[in-house]
Amino acid sequence: MDLDQLAALRTPEGSAALTAAADLAGGDPLVAASALRATSVPPTLAAAALTQAELRHRAVGKFGSAAAEMFLTRPGLEQATRRVVADRRAARLYAAGVRTLADLGCGLGADALAAARAGIRVYGVEADPVTAAMAAANAEAAGLAELFTVECGDATGFDVSGVDGVFCDPARRATGTGRRIFDPRAYSPPWDFVTGLAERVPRTVVKVAPGLDHALIPAGAEAEWVGVDGDLVEAALWCGELAEVPRRATLYRQRGAEAHRHELTGSGAAEAPVGPPRRYLYDPDPAVVRAHLVAELATELDATLGDPSIAYLYADQPIRTPYARCLEITDVLPFSLKRLRALLRDRRVGRVEILKRGSALTPEQLRRDLRLAGDAAASLVLTRVDGAPTVLIGQPVDWRLLD
Ligand SMILES: C[S@@+](CC[C@H](N)C(=O)[O-])C[C@H]1O[C@@H](n2cnc3c(N)ncnc32)[C@H](O)[C@@H]1O
Repeated sequence: MDLDQLAALRTPEGSAALTAAADLAGGDPLVAASALRATSVPPTLAAAALTQAELRHRAVGKFGSAAAEMFLTRPGLEQATRRVVADRRAARLYAAGVRTLADLGCGLGADALAAARAGIRVYGVEADPVTAAMAAANAEAAGLAELFTVECGDATGFDVSGVDGVFCDPARRATGTGRRIFDPRAYSPPWDFVTGLAERVPRTVVKVAPGLDHALIPAGAEAEWVGVDGDLVEAALWCGELAEVPRRATLYRQRGAEAHRHELTGSGAAEAPVGPPRRYLYDPDPAVVRAHLVAELATELDATLGDPSIAYLYADQPIRTPYARCLEITDVLPFSLKRLRALLRDRRVGRVEILKRGSALTPEQLRRDLRLAGDAAASLVLTRVDGAPTVLIGQPVDWRLLD
């Protein structure tokens, strides 16, 4: 997509092509292309409209119904923040007194739009001209063009002295190849610039990849890991006055159109007590594990670790928690393929889910080696207990039976 194609899509003719393409999105792309070709829409406009329609269709999971009006690029959509996460961040910024915000590298504007919806005046800067034009179009489509304006340029030159707060979500994809960048030092804008922002603006938030090395967390910053329905989606560094706690795990559970938020906080430095496996095993959400909040969760659940280096918790009681899955354990065995196979055969287990932490075994290979047969189902947990390779057999807790 180039600027001319974007401009063409924003004419009445382009808008009609987008409407026609929207009805075809999500189906067979070849059928959609030939259906649009059969209309009077010029071929290049039809192709651009179809691409947009496909991207909008895909974006519904991130942006809900607002996706239908947005202009998107593939890399822009992949890197954009989910609406539920962006709205929460914006609400937190507003509550901290931020009324003017610079979004340095605003992309398609998902975060900036959320801040504008929260009533914050946002100055977006975006290096890529097409992405910048799309962000401006997205602000207009959302009726937020007065609160979110976009300048195309290099964010490192933006004067941040006049704003209350700064948000930066550096690009984590290589320009051209689109490959993921894992080392923050290769982010754009560059990491030194990004972390230096916190020294210049007391209210700075930086979005980073969830794999961020804890050693890179700036001193005094709050590091937050965010999970949505069990997927670890991002981390954010809340710097200066915005830091409320050292570590936070924020989990969203989507139920239809609603999302429930749960937050676990702590120092990130506490150690959970260690003991033998007990009747209930808790498998903490990845955001809790990455935030180093397993000890805080252990306190909530009155649980212990089976091994100091492995994030499975064990307790005598089942407690319903948004922060972990809970399994009822029936057997704890030193790992032996022969013994496990015999036991599962005796119990006629034909289906297993395999969880693992601290085990080098590959679930697919183990599943093949077990040669399962039968109608029963079981959960297998491959792990170490006090350093020894161990397999636990159990079932997910059925809360309906306990409530
Ligand atoms: C991860 S995306 C931002 C996504 C955005 N927060 C959202 O949720 O829609 C990062 C953006 O920063 C832009 N960018 C990278 N380096 C930049 C720079 N030096 N100045 C301005 N923009 C830059 C990239 O083009 C990319 O669109």
